[in-house]
Amino acid sequence: MNRLLEPELMDDPLQAQVYAEADFSAENQGFVDRFREYFPECTQGLIVDLGCGPGDIPVRLARALPDCRITGVDASRPMIDLAESAIRQAGLSDRVTLRCERFQDFAGVHQADGAVSNSLLHHLPNPLQFWHKLRMVVKPGSPVLVMDLLRPESPEAAQAIVDQYAAGAPDILRRDFYNSLLAAFTEDEIAAQLAHMNLTRLLIDVIDDRHWVVEGLVH
Ligand SMILES: C[S@@+](CC[C@H](N)C(=O)[O-])C[C@H]1O[C@@H](n2cnc3c(N)ncnc32)[C@H](O)[C@@H]1O
Repeated sequence: MNRLLEPELMDDPLQAQVYAEADFSAENQGFVDRFREYFPECTQGLIVDLGCGPGDIPVRLARALPDCRITGVDASRPMIDLAESAIRQAGLSDRVTLRCERFQDFAGVHQADGAVSNSLLHHLPNPLQFWHKLRMVVKPGSPVLVMDLLRPESPEAAQAIVDQYAAGAPDILRRDFYNSLLAAFTEDEIAAQLAHMNLTRLLIDVIDDRHWVVEGLVH
């Protein structure tokens, strides 16, 4: 099945609200635990989260790494408003900063000590812009962790995944999940992107039936 693009930003207020209310706690905490496990030496400095959405991962990262500062970047105003509120409620406004802008425009060059991104890449018409920015954002030798969906073999397989993992979820969430699966990349496509960008020290791993993870140090 060919890739079918979905809109880049999630800037419909209802769409953002429904996404923020969904329970991604296991997935998001697993992502943060993976970062700590892969990179135990990364305990200080600045970590950037590209496409931070409603802020759940920045909050979990800030709690897990109490000596780190986090900057979340998302170009959706409704998502950033939700993230601001989540960070205020968590009492983390002193360590978590948000920027409402496209990651392509994010200015920090070689300033971060680490970078993460979950579920952003499949939104992008040009994924190479993402890998380029990831390399630019961090200091050379810094850890990065990226996770996203895997594109299934067929629309029917995508629908089966939605039915299995989002049964009973609101229609908007089920629609977005389905569209995201169709817009996602395959393992081979991600490997080709990394090779094209000469990010050959980053490793891709398929961790379950619908997710891949890329991790390593960016040089
Ligand atoms: C599926 S959500 C993931 C949110 C969050 N990372 C999480 O795991 O819950 C993808 C987010 O990426 C944002 N996004 C898409 N393209 C973007 C871009 N070019 N620059 C910044 N944010 C972008 C969307 O607005 C959306 O909030």
